[in-house]
Amino acid sequence: MGSLGQTASLRVQPLKKGTSIDHLEYVDVTPIIGREYPTASLKEMLDAPNSDDQLRDLAITICERGVVFFRKPQDDLSVEEQKHITDLLGKLTGRPAENGLHVHPIYNDPNNLPMADGTTDKNIYVINSEAAKKLYATMKNRPGTAGEPRDLGREWHSDSLYENCPSDFSFLRMQDTPAAGGDTLWCSGYEIYDRLSEPYKRFFESLTATCAQPVFKSACEAGGYDVMTPRGSPLNKDYEFSPSHPVVRTHPVTGWKSVFAGVGIHVSRINDVTSYEDTMIREYVLRLITRNHDAIARMHWTRGACAIWSNECTFHAATPDTHLVDGVRTGVRASGIGGVPYLDPASTGRREALGLPKY
Ligand SMILES: [Fe+2]
Repeated sequence: MGSLGQTASLRVQPLKKGTSIDHLEYVDVTPIIGREYPTASLKEMLDAPNSDDQLRDLAITICERGVVFFRKPQDDLSVEEQKHITDLLGKLTGRPAENGLHVHPIYNDPNNLPMADGTTDKNIYVINSEAAKKLYATMKNRPGTAGEPRDLGREWHSDSLYENCPSDFSFLRMQDTPAAGGDTLWCSGYEIYDRLSEPYKRFFESLTATCAQPVFKSACEAGGYDVMTPRGSPLNKDYEFSPSHPVVRTHPVTGWKSVFAGVGIHVSRINDVTSYEDTMIREYVLRLITRNHDAIARMHWTRGACAIWSNECTFHAATPDTHLVDGVRTGVRASGIGGVPYLDPASTGRREALGLPKY
C-alpha cells in the first residue's frame, strides 16, 4: 500500500469514491482496465436527486478503471445533456474552475461535419464513416506507403495533447453502427508505467515531449478562416499548439502515475534527446502497448452505446475497418479540458498504491 506519509505529501489529494452508484449492475471488461454498465441509464443518473454524488462517483470510477461503457442505448439523452455530463465529470473532481468543454480548433472549417439533424455545435466532434472513407481514399496514397497495409500503431493517442491543457474526460456516443467493425480500443497508461523496470521508470520520469500540431494553423490559413479561441481553458488560445508535456504524469484524481506524452499523432518530439533516441523511445512506448494486450479494453460498438474515458491515464485507438462493411457509422463526442499535466514525485504507480503484486 502507498504509505499514509506518501499520500499526505501529494500535491493533490486523491479522491475517494462514495457509494452512490454501487446499485448499478456492472462487469469489469478486464482485470486491469474498463467497466461496462449493461443496464444503467445516464439520463436517470443526471435526473436523480443525488445526481452530483452519482456523477462524481462515476468520474472517479472512470479515472480508476480508465474507461467505462454504457451498453443500453442511451436514446433519451440529448446532446446538451451529453455535454453537460462531460463538463460535470471534470467539475465535480477538482479540475480548474475556469475550464470547460473543448472547442475543436478548426470548427470553422467548411468541411466540419454536421450532426444527424444537420446542425453543428462547437463542443461536439462528429464521427462519420462516410467521411472517413473519403479520408482513407486519400491516406492510401501517402508517399512511400502505396500498396502496403497500414500501420495501425499510428492510431494510438490521447485526446488534445496539442493543447496546453489537454482533455480530461471524453464521452463518445455511437448513434448508428454496422454489425461489425469500427471497434475502439483503450490501453491503460497506468499499467504501461507499471510494466517499466525501476531504472526505466526513473528515465521516463525525466522526460518531456513537445506536442506540436502545426496543421491547424496551415488549415486556417489555407481555408481563410479564424482558429477557435479560447478552447475550453484560458490557457488554450490562439495558435498555441506546441506545449511540452511530461512523458509520465500523475493523474490528478487518483494520484497514480501514468505514461502520458509518449505515443500518438500529437507527440512530435521527445525533448532534449537525439532524433535517434526520440524515435527509439516512442517506438518503445508503442511496443509496450502492443506487447501488453492484457492492458487493453476493446469496445464492440452497438447502436446507442456510449464510452466515457479519462485521457489522463489511457491511450485509445480507432479501428478503421468500416470501409469493409455496409452500413454507416456515426457518433458524437464531447471532451472536457483538464488542468496542466504534471508529474508529482511523491505519487506512485497504480499497483503500488493498491497493494497489488508487481506484475
Ligand atoms: Fe481520440
